[in-house]
Amino acid sequence: MLIHRRPNGLDLPYSSEITPQAVYEKRREFIKKIAMNATVGGALWELANREAFAQTPAIKLAAKRNPAYSALEKQTSFKDASTYNNYYEFGTDKSEPANNARTLKTRPWTVTIEGEVKKPMTIDIDALAKLAPLEERVYRLRCVEGWSMVIPWVGYSLSNLIKKVEPSGNAKFIEFVTLADPKQMPGVTSRVLKWPYVEGLRLDEAMHPLTLLTVGMYGQVLPNQNGAPVRVVIPWKYGFKSAKSIVKIRLLKDMPKTAWNISAPSEYGFYSNVNPEVDHPRWSQASERRIGEDGFFQKKRKTLMFNGYSDVASLYTGMDLRKNF
Ligand code: MTE
Repeated sequence: MLIHRRPNGLDLPYSSEITPQAVYEKRREFIKKIAMNATVGGALWELANREAFAQTPAIKLAAKRNPAYSALEKQTSFKDASTYNNYYEFGTDKSEPANNARTLKTRPWTVTIEGEVKKPMTIDIDALAKLAPLEERVYRLRCVEGWSMVIPWVGYSLSNLIKKVEPSGNAKFIEFVTLADPKQMPGVTSRVLKWPYVEGLRLDEAMHPLTLLTVGMYGQVLPNQNGAPVRVVIPWKYGFKSAKSIVKIRLLKDMPKTAWNISAPSEYGFYSNVNPEVDHPRWSQASERRIGEDGFFQKKRKTLMFNGYSDVASLYTGMDLRKNF
């Protein structure tokens, strides 16, 4: 995600959010790297920074491919998908999560599902992973920053879990609350976002079969930097909706606040559907660079409405998607 640039083009913070010098300098450094990224396709900078990448030990995870939900495109390499990450709890540079997330302890781990439900529960991660048959689904992931990947995720439709807790008639939204433990996560001491990182969906979006409760990728458990031990993946929305390392899921009457919307409400809305026709206030969303494939001298590829997942259009019938960005 990009740090907020003010309408006047300067990085001066609003008085309500004056940041300490160290954080501010880190932002400047980050912006410089993003700029460099945009200029040279990121290739050189990324290569240099990802040299030291450390992988979580691979634990195999058997799952049958669901062809109905799988993109037939070239998959991004595991190395790219596990070293070019956004996971601010472990640092704002793309290479930092792979190096820093080694400190994340993913066992024991429980997830609590509560709120507007008849049967709230707290479930151990290993039981959660067995609640429904695991499937492999190859999804495109489009980041709001203008890059994309194609990743074979492992998980099952979140609807399986939601049905288990029996939503009450009042449940209209769902909120994902993620871990924010300063002992394990060096980034949560920074004020770059309000912690914990929270995300949300309307309940019908969460019940859509494409919304994947995800425990693995590339036939193995999620590397820590990709959101171990459990995250969601919502392929028709910008990547930041896909909350990592979830500890709590709440069903709610009202629309929850979300991390990026709190941080910059004019830039990041609640819906955040991939939409090439609605620009981010500071850049176009009409095209994207596929990580590992599209170099600087190549034309960027066109971004598709709903990231190509046109089945979801019926969720938004009658809504103005410019207002509900
Ligand atoms: N979840 C948490 N807890 N913290 C984060 O910083 N970043 C989001 C999302 N989920 C983020 C998060 C963003 S901006 C993106 S693009 C995706 O994770 C990136 O997922 P990936 O690194 O597995 O590709």
